[in-house]
Amino acid sequence: MDYIVSGKYPLNGKLRVYGAKNAVLPILAGSILGGVVFLKNCPRLSDVSYTLEILRRLGCRVAESGDEIIINPAPANSWRLDAGPAGEMRSSVNFLGALIGRYGRAELPMPGGCRLGSRPIDLHIKAFREMGVEVDVSGGIIYAEGQPRGTDVHLDFPSVGATENVILAAVTAKGITTLSNAAREPEIADLCNFLSAMGARIHGAGTATVRIEGVPFLRGCEYSVMPDRIVAATYMCAAVAAGGEIEIENVIRPHLEAVADALRRCGAEIYFSSYGAAVRAPRVIHSPGIVRTEVYPGFPTDCQSQLMAVMACGRESGVVVENIFESRFKIVPELRRMGAEIRCQGPTAIVRGGSLHGCELKAEDLRGGAALVIAALGAEGESRISGTDYIARGYQDLAGELRSVGARISFQ
Ligand code: UD1
Repeated sequence: MDYIVSGKYPLNGKLRVYGAKNAVLPILAGSILGGVVFLKNCPRLSDVSYTLEILRRLGCRVAESGDEIIINPAPANSWRLDAGPAGEMRSSVNFLGALIGRYGRAELPMPGGCRLGSRPIDLHIKAFREMGVEVDVSGGIIYAEGQPRGTDVHLDFPSVGATENVILAAVTAKGITTLSNAAREPEIADLCNFLSAMGARIHGAGTATVRIEGVPFLRGCEYSVMPDRIVAATYMCAAVAAGGEIEIENVIRPHLEAVADALRRCGAEIYFSSYGAAVRAPRVIHSPGIVRTEVYPGFPTDCQSQLMAVMACGRESGVVVENIFESRFKIVPELRRMGAEIRCQGPTAIVRGGSLHGCELKAEDLRGGAALVIAALGAEGESRISGTDYIARGYQDLAGELRSVGARISFQ
């Protein structure tokens, strides 16, 4: 279904952020490691549905109601994921660590997901080998075998997925795993909190050195997933591009500092309270200067496209440097057709805003899709956005949520 967006209608009102996609996906993979898991604040997203389908195919019993999910992993008896849903998502790679942790073996297709570059898994494989697990990739299938054992593991780059995978394999491994140069994204601390609620012994969760003492078994638990900082940041960018003033409930301030800082430089007023944020758009969007994507707590790559869309709605020149993924400027041709002037060289884009006008747009990845909605909200006239299935991977009814605060978006 395409989105039809009419621009220049300011947003006003309150939005509430739901549970984080990038937290719930590894948590769902980790749910095969222990007893019955009762999860609250789960987002309703296509990537969550794919992951539940993977759990069912492994033999788990899964029940869903609203934002709650119950998983009973006891009947699961398979360490193999066939292509189907596992081939659809990058995050299916989290099952590698979880299956190794439960069975000492795993077989799954090389992961799919958004096309943001080559997205290798060499760091995951190297770490597992250091933990004593044999891993081979042939014919697009990853084969892993061996009981993981605790050891010192150093990541050459703080990859989010590799950090999660090592932790998932280490919590029930024999011995102590010390993971250095670990990624520090808040979703990793959330995974660790979940595993700790199941009885795992993890120290330094959310820091660059994580120490995991393997335990023989994990029990079940009840756990509430952290709020989605990328969704909150997307709402903030939408308000700045469209104009108006919104309140966003269920946000954690430190998770949003880097984005808030960039948007303040654009002229927005942003205030945090203990449970939410208030965003007031500027009359004219200024340049944020140079914005570089970095690992947490730096500016997140998952918000780069949305910020570029905001910059395109302004009148000044700014620079975006994408340091994490190599192919994350897919929205540039779309923004150019709307009237922005953008020059790209390698990881750098120089963005000069213009009076954007609505046109036909095509989403090619999840965050880029959300960014096109943001650009369309700030543009004069009507835009038609296709490829909105990408948006549904990471946003629970983005159009409906934005409509509830005054955006003019319909479907066709
Ligand atoms: C996760 C997030 C994604 C976010 C990204 C960076 C999930 C489901 N996805 O993705 O939304 O954009 O973190 O914050 O949580 N790399 C290698 N070899 C590896 C692994 C990664 O070279 O073995 C490279 C990647 O190609 C990329 C960079 O490291 O250039 C970062 O990747 P990583 O942190 O692993 O991101 P993901 O876990 O895939």
